Order: sequence, then structure tokens, then C-alpha cells
Amino acid sequence: MNLSNTREYMKGKTLVISGATRGIGKAILYKFAQNGVNIAFTYNKNEEEANKIIADVESKYQIKAKAYPLNVLELEQYIELFKKIDEDFSGINFFISNAIIYGKSVAGGFAPFMRLKPKGLNNIYTATVLAFVVGAQEAAKRMKENGGGTIISLSSTGNLVYMPNYAGHGNSKNAVETMVKYAAQELGEFKIRVNAVSGGPIDTDALRAFPDYDIVKQKVEEQSPLNRMGTPEDLAGAAFFLCDETQSSWITGQTIVIDGGTTFK
Ligand SMILES: NC(=O)c1ccc[n+]([C@@H]2O[C@H](COP(=O)([O-])OP(=O)(O)OC[C@H]3O[C@@H](n4cnc5c(N)ncnc54)[C@H](OP(=O)(O)O)[C@@H]3O)[C@@H](O)[C@H]2O)c1
Repeated sequence: MNLSNTREYMKGKTLVISGATRGIGKAILYKFAQNGVNIAFTYNKNEEEANKIIADVESKYQIKAKAYPLNVLELEQYIELFKKIDEDFSGINFFISNAIIYGKSVAGGFAPFMRLKPKGLNNIYTATVLAFVVGAQEAAKRMKENGGGTIISLSSTGNLVYMPNYAGHGNSKNAVETMVKYAAQELGEFKIRVNAVSGGPIDTDALRAFPDYDIVKQKVEEQSPLNRMGTPEDLAGAAFFLCDETQSSWITGQTIVIDGGTTFK
């Protein structure tokens, strides 16, 4: 990778990312900020953490960062969010749909098959697929005016291999990967590339909330030829690569799987 080309290309561009106060979103935010990219990111409850991140990245990397509240279950909030970002930043180059819901809102969605309930499943679909659609539409409108851009959805290998209780998430990740392919076909003429980054089990709060976290962790460490769980940084590298036009300009409509070799076992 030619690092000087990458840095030159990325510097001064703007990333919009949902749910970047923790885990994978936070690692992606830092990866882009370290490379001179300005950041507009969202939080749901953790405003205090969002403010800490802003102070940290602005002082360390001399970029602009701003945080906005967003609940991906209230999709109309996305329209207002982008209007606010228009006021604060000059153009959007990258959009990453990363936020995921947890806790009460996934009740009946994160469960064994016989206990699945429409409401929980619908919430997961809304947070995963509909939030991607609405967010990506708003981003693409701006990117068209800007001469292009890159859109990414996070996905997970729970649509390739069985994970207990994960039917709702796995299905929605399947659906969002298909949506990515359709968006890529229709947005290519505007020089907008659309891809998914799919992760195997990554050590974050979301995974630690699984009731069988310790078993999952042990199993992944045994299954991976690399003998470890994935880290948020493992996915951040792929997201960065996909946004870097100097490295990935002919990649669109794809899912890049970062699974430590676990899905082939
Ligand atoms: N962890 C894994 O094993 C794994 C593997 C592959 C793919 N992924 C995918 O990677 C993405 C990030 O996962 P993660 O593990 O990093 O999650 P996480 O650590 O639980 O972080 C979730 C983020 O989403 C935000 N959020 C929570 N509820 C929200 C809501 N209702 N509306 C808007 N934002 C909300 C949180 O904000 P607050 O902090 O403000 O609440 C936080 O920033 C997800 O799409 C996930 O499916 C995860």
C-alpha cells in the first residue's frame, strides 16, 4: 500500500458513521481520524463518551469531529441528522452504517427459533436494513453532488454459520448484504461504491452481552487458525481500505469477510 497516496487522498475528507461510541464503530472512527479524516458520528445514550472522543481526536489528529444523537429505530431522525451535518461539514465522502441495537429492543429477536417474536425481529430489521437504506440514501444524495463517495454497511458471519439466538440478526445481515449489492448497481454511475464488511465474532460490548459469551469466545479461539477472537481494529482496517479510492476503486457490491478463518471450519 502506498501510504503517502492514501494519506493524501484521505486527508480533509469527511466520514459519517452511526454508533461510534464503542466497539467497532469507535475503532473505525479512530482509524479514519488518524489519517486526517473529519468525523461526524452518532451516539444513542453515551453522550459523555462521545464528547471525550471528540476532545481526544481533535487534539491528537487536528481534525474536526462532531457527535449527534440518533436512534436507528426512529428512522426519520436520519433525515434531520444529515441536515445538521450539512450545516457543520462541507460535503460527505464516506458513510458507514454501523449502529446496532441491544437490550429490551431486541427482546423476541435475539432468541432461539421457537421463541422469536415479530416485534423483536422487526426492530432488528429496522436497525440493520432500514437504517442502512435511509442513511445511505441521504448520504448518496450528497455524494452525487460531491462527485462520488463510498458507503459501507457492517455485517456479520452469523448469516453464514449457526450462532445460538442469532437468527434475527443473521437474517437481517443477509438482507443488508443484498441491499448493498442493489445500491452498488444503481449508484455506480455517480461514482459511489457500496460494500459490506462482515465480521466473525469480535470482542465488543455487543458480544459480551451474549448469555454464552465465554463459550463463544473459547469456541472462536479454537476454531480460528489464528487462535484468537477478532478485535474491532481488525474490521476498521477493511472499512478504511474500502473507502480509500487509491486502493479499492474497482471494488463495489461486495462483502469482505474478516473472520479469522472461522467460517470454513
Ligand atoms: N461484535 C461482534 O461480534 C460483531 C461481529 C460482526 C459484525 N458486527 C457488527 O458491527 C456493528 C457494531 O457492533 P459492535 O459490536 O461494535 O456494537 P457495540 O459495541 O454494542 O456498539 C453499538 C453502537 O451502536 C449504538 N447504538 C445502540 N443502540 C442504538 C440505537 N437504538 N440507535 C442508534 N445507535 C445505537 C451505541 O451507542 P451508545 O454507546 O450511545 O449506546 C454504540 O455506539 C454492528 O452492526 C454489528 O452487527 C459485530
